[in-house]
Amino acid sequence: MQHTQPAPFPEGFLWGASTSGYQVEGGWDADGKGRSIVDARTQFPAGTTDYTVASDHYHHVDEDVALFAELGLKAYRFSVQWTRIVPDGDGAENPDGIAFYHRLIDGLLAHGITPVLTMYHFDLPQALAEKGGWGSRATIDAFVRFAEILYREFGAKVPYWLTINEQNMMVLFGGTLGIIDGPDNADVNVYQKNHHMLVAQARAMELLHRTVPTAKIGPAPNIAYVYAESCRPEDVLAADDFNAVRNWLYLDAAVHGRYNATAWAYLEAKGLTPTIEPGDLEVMAAAHPDFLAFNYYATHTAAAPLEGDDVPIEGGDQHISFGEPGYYRAVANPHLPKNAFGWEIDPIGFRMTFRAIYDRYHLPLLVTENGLGAFDVLEADGTVHDDYRIDYLRDHIAQIQQAISDGVDVLGYCPWSAIDLVSTHQGIAKRYGLVYVNRDDDDLKDLARYRKDSFAWYQKLIAGNALPD
Ligand code: BG6
Repeated sequence: MQHTQPAPFPEGFLWGASTSGYQVEGGWDADGKGRSIVDARTQFPAGTTDYTVASDHYHHVDEDVALFAELGLKAYRFSVQWTRIVPDGDGAENPDGIAFYHRLIDGLLAHGITPVLTMYHFDLPQALAEKGGWGSRATIDAFVRFAEILYREFGAKVPYWLTINEQNMMVLFGGTLGIIDGPDNADVNVYQKNHHMLVAQARAMELLHRTVPTAKIGPAPNIAYVYAESCRPEDVLAADDFNAVRNWLYLDAAVHGRYNATAWAYLEAKGLTPTIEPGDLEVMAAAHPDFLAFNYYATHTAAAPLEGDDVPIEGGDQHISFGEPGYYRAVANPHLPKNAFGWEIDPIGFRMTFRAIYDRYHLPLLVTENGLGAFDVLEADGTVHDDYRIDYLRDHIAQIQQAISDGVDVLGYCPWSAIDLVSTHQGIAKRYGLVYVNRDDDDLKDLARYRKDSFAWYQKLIAGNALPD
């Protein structure tokens, strides 16, 4: 049903925008920062860049925060790089790296912008990867110690915390994104790593509640509703399997501290069940998120596998998947348009995703990513006419309003991204920002910032707490 007079956005709705540390900061070895698995990467897709300079936010932080303030942001979602804070992951702290995030957070607070802090966004310290990465239980302890440092330093200033960004995408597409934990541990069962991340997340949530009771914390997976290609029961079953393996495994574990039964059956059938140590499930069950953050770009569509089908899951990228042998085939949805990178665009699927999550878990929801990657053009007069991005944002925000009218409790919306940054695997030519950063993949230029048309549009929306006419 379409609400013809949808509910207004609540007072205090967190209109925000997002980035991640390694994709925006640059300064990859500045002031004592250690190397992450991203910095240690040597292979990049043809025509794309590395992350050494990125958008050079590390050296433009005050200018960028001033732009966020001018935009009117109520929230800014960013990630801290573990290797700035603890360069080798589990050894000495780096006061200069800690100081950088104090400067960022203090700048946000001075402008009335609520910091939303992601603790871990794909950038495991390389030194930990060399000691077994997420395949080793020692990384759980290192993460909890890292969390302790973060809470000690920033607990009093940051009200919203996110544990791990897109754990599900790391597990399902870590190879494509180059981020599961480096080639060193490539042959370790990825669901063992996943299990260790789930335990680490649970311990970090419990620790925040014990040490900073005023702050709130939640996971931040990429959740996308999976449609069935048809009402043929086999197709519906395939979509149900894909939903369980892609979405519910992660949220059931975070909220209820247990493995989703359908997903567990899949792991058993594939011989991928992790070793669970005594006490792990108790730790997971004792931890409770205060809200659920999620990233949404597009729905997926699944059909029953074909006879003899053995299509590998690793094939496209996080939004163009080819399926899982014996379980489902990921198929194109003929009803949806695609962006320049082949990702489908589905605003109504966004509403469906809200409803599906809220119906299952009844927790407040915070959107921590949603946006359009495009080849923007900087005109000679410094303007960028990204009307296609405005259309994308408008259509998705309209569906948030529909979801709110459906009764879903929505805390806020942080589109990807506040400012142009380097994509996970498609370079900086694939731009998402409300602010243009003047550089290309092969030419750093002057890294100057320019407001895109979407900047003015979002500014107006935030000022009015409503979609502009
Ligand atoms: C999510 C990630 O997968 O989507 C971001 O959390 C990423 O880090 C974003 O940049 C867009 O994906 P991509 O591959 O276009 O950079």
